[in-house]
Amino acid sequence: MANIVILGVKWGDEGKGKIVDLLSEHVDIVARYQGGHNAGHTVMVDDQRIVLHLIPTGILRSGKKCIIGNGVVVDIQALLQEVGDLQKLGVSFEKRLLISNRAHVIMPYHRRADQADKQASGLQRIGTTGRGIGPAYTDKMARLGIQIGDLLDEKLFGEKLKINLDNRGLSQSEHFQQVFSRYIEYGRRIKPYIIDVSYYLNQAIDSGERVLFEGAQGTMLDVDHGTYPYVTSSNATAGGACTGLGVGPTRIEGVLGVVKAYTTRVGNGPFPTELDNETGAELRLLGDEYGATTGRPRRCGWFDALVVKHAVRINGMESLALTKLDVLDKCRQIKLCIGYEWQNERLTQFPGNISIVEQCQPIYEEMPGWLSDTRGINSLEALPAATRKYLDRIQELIGVELGLVSTGPRREETIIIKSSKLTNWLNI
Ligand code: IMP
Repeated sequence: MANIVILGVKWGDEGKGKIVDLLSEHVDIVARYQGGHNAGHTVMVDDQRIVLHLIPTGILRSGKKCIIGNGVVVDIQALLQEVGDLQKLGVSFEKRLLISNRAHVIMPYHRRADQADKQASGLQRIGTTGRGIGPAYTDKMARLGIQIGDLLDEKLFGEKLKINLDNRGLSQSEHFQQVFSRYIEYGRRIKPYIIDVSYYLNQAIDSGERVLFEGAQGTMLDVDHGTYPYVTSSNATAGGACTGLGVGPTRIEGVLGVVKAYTTRVGNGPFPTELDNETGAELRLLGDEYGATTGRPRRCGWFDALVVKHAVRINGMESLALTKLDVLDKCRQIKLCIGYEWQNERLTQFPGNISIVEQCQPIYEEMPGWLSDTRGINSLEALPAATRKYLDRIQELIGVELGLVSTGPRREETIIIKSSKLTNWLNI
């Protein structure tokens, strides 16, 4: 039984929520390692659509412990709101939620700065979620950030807050007092959840508990390996699980990448297989491609093998979960991007230089669609022959197995591929 990382292969919104929810049945702990409430993980439980932003998806499975790691940035107001919303739905927390004392806090001035950046000419092009994520990580790296544990020490928190407010010209004592009191109160409220995550997780692993490391966003939004600067501010890739939770790479045995049967992106930045036409609009409609956090329409396009191969290499992925296959049911022809054309050259690797990516034209291979209903099919044998050919071709192009195929949003609308690495890791 192995500890595995589950993460997004492309630009997020791959359907990780459903996959983590489904597989968390087979582990003891689900641990989130980066990002913040910019994420939106959608899960369907008994026809109820639940969107999680900050709390690990394992919270929907009773008895599973859920950890928010040091690599996450936490908006405490949003966290308490999410806890309250889930409690109203009948989710019981019973000491199951644990938060790292080292996680950084998103402060009101971070939110304001992110909103202002969105309106300014320079950063507007990134199209952030406006939740204060980038400014909070900026302060972390500048060594000015406020950590969750600081909120339990009035003197230390007061000193740090004063420096941060002074730096922003917000030093009026009334304002200081207001923010200070609010965050000290937040600290009191979340104190029961706060722990040393690295110590806790390593002890748990030593005693045989199994951990699912949950990534947010996706590889192409990773600050180091994505389409920089059109990225988020954290490491969404597998390495982020180690730094964002305080576990060594030797503790992780497998990496499962979640990838859609086509491609989407929200926010700005290059997207070589984007379909700015009727087909793209149809995929958006059929796939209900609107942001789970901001409601923005997602840009849609064909499956891009170069992006997936890039993600396989960066993350050491050995198994893929292919999602939203049924969205392609109505397509007469389906295209797979197998290379890029750039200045009369054929590229077979995703370029490291973003200005090159912007000039690339996709080279497609076409396959006939299956034009039949695959929604809810839960065995490979029951899929139409053309669908199986599409899946086989993807595995051939990427050189990595499919461990799971999702044919609808519900838990049972899933094909688990027997004898795959994934089923071996989880002993299922
Ligand atoms: P930020 O993470 O709010 O700073 O936004 C940076 C970029 O990442 C923008 O293009 C966002 O649309 C994108 N982004 C952030 N979180 C998600 C997500 O969970 N899914 C998809 N895109 C995201």
